[in-house]
Amino acid sequence: MPKTPDVYHLNDPTSFAYSTARSRWPKIITQSKHDVFAHAEKSEDAELKKQSEHIVEGIELLLREIEDGVSIRKFTESEVALIPSLQSYNDILATMKEKPTWLAGPWLFTECYLYRVLDTVVKSQSKWVDFDIFEVLKRDTFKSSKFGIYELAIRYKKLSEELKKTPQVETEKLRILFEEFVDISLWGNATDLSLLANATLEDIQSRQGKEAREKSAENIIANDLPEAWSRLVAVPFEERRVDFVLDNAGFEFYTDLSLSLFLLDAKLVKTVVFHCKTRPWMVSDTMVKDYKLFLQDMRNSDWFPDHQEELEYFVSSIEYYHSTKQFQLVDSEFWTSALDYSYLSPHETKYGGAELYNYFQESTLVIVKGDLNYRKLTGDRMWPKTTPFVNAIDQLATSNIHVLALRTCKADVCVGLPDGLEEKLIEFWKQQGNDVGELWCSSGKWAVISYSAGNSS
Ligand code: F6P
Ligand code: MG
Repeated sequence: MPKTPDVYHLNDPTSFAYSTARSRWPKIITQSKHDVFAHAEKSEDAELKKQSEHIVEGIELLLREIEDGVSIRKFTESEVALIPSLQSYNDILATMKEKPTWLAGPWLFTECYLYRVLDTVVKSQSKWVDFDIFEVLKRDTFKSSKFGIYELAIRYKKLSEELKKTPQVETEKLRILFEEFVDISLWGNATDLSLLANATLEDIQSRQGKEAREKSAENIIANDLPEAWSRLVAVPFEERRVDFVLDNAGFEFYTDLSLSLFLLDAKLVKTVVFHCKTRPWMVSDTMVKDYKLFLQDMRNSDWFPDHQEELEYFVSSIEYYHSTKQFQLVDSEFWTSALDYSYLSPHETKYGGAELYNYFQESTLVIVKGDLNYRKLTGDRMWPKTTPFVNAIDQLATSNIHVLALRTCKADVCVGLPDGLEEKLIEFWKQQGNDVGELWCSSGKWAVISYSAGNSS
């Protein structure tokens, strides 16, 4: 049995972790501070304004600690008393031989810890407990995704009406449509806000829409979708449930909804369940409350003055399935705990892992979206890139859970590639004028679709 590789660290200059800690995090944190200011300024509540000063102090302290690369501390007893799942971070810290620092610690752990510190700073103030420090950014970016939004609403309405008219659609046609909507949901992940901290409106728009997707087709460098399709149609219809472990709100959420609507309309699945975060996370991740905002924003004719009929069709369709419970949204503390997804196991009884493990036993497919979720699936380890996906996901490979990861590559870890491809991509990336060829894998330009049936021997 080959040795399990180490995780990526923040002091490795060939890793995307390096610039993440030194440049991306400070930008993201500074932006969130401005949003606290803006929210306090708009409010008439003197107490809320007063409390905002403590939040700003906490954020500034965090910024300094990151810049100075100091050691990461345990969450205090009173912090854990306020938010019990913080204990998961203390549990993992206790297992580490070396005390991690902000500029040299393990990337995945430290990044998750960072978002929990931010959240704790905000939640320590009573008037701010429900404040989403990233909400303005999430919604503003959605607003600026107008053209991609129109295009997809038009496509969906046309298809949905066609499906309603045709009592029996051939399986082959459904398979092709499945591929199309998975592709939409996959590339919907290319526009997350943590990576596009510096992106212009044009950058964002250029990653959305049919044309962009078509250009990117050959950039899907591992593709197990045929296996996932076979699994889907092998389960009796009455039992078919697809779960989404969601990633970002806004445009990506919209593409996940469009895949769900297609699956429901085409009677390919009985139920779809979305798994959301319980708190603001990695800038743009989806919380249950973001669903309501999504409906509201889609109906905002100041934001989206055209194609209102198609937008309304989309929104009413999902509201209908929500009312019949064929579409559901749930959340769990597990997703923002310190634990990677090898803890989706009957033994993890403290933070929700066992509950989710049991729930996913009944799932036809668990679609795991995005980069961070992929890092948590693979432990963010330095696997050789030709490692089979099932070898990189620990006990999930034998968990009986059918995992389908849809991920655009925005970090170093990547598995399931054919022999020789990594070398070619490194060379290609260098030829494009980039100093570190290995960083092709963090550029968001390539993607992987990886499947595990949960029955590896
Ligand atoms: O790797 C870059 C990064 O911004 C990480 O900070 C984080 O893992 C991830 O991408 C967020 O992307 P996604 O929204 O796809 O999970
Ligand atoms: Mg995200």
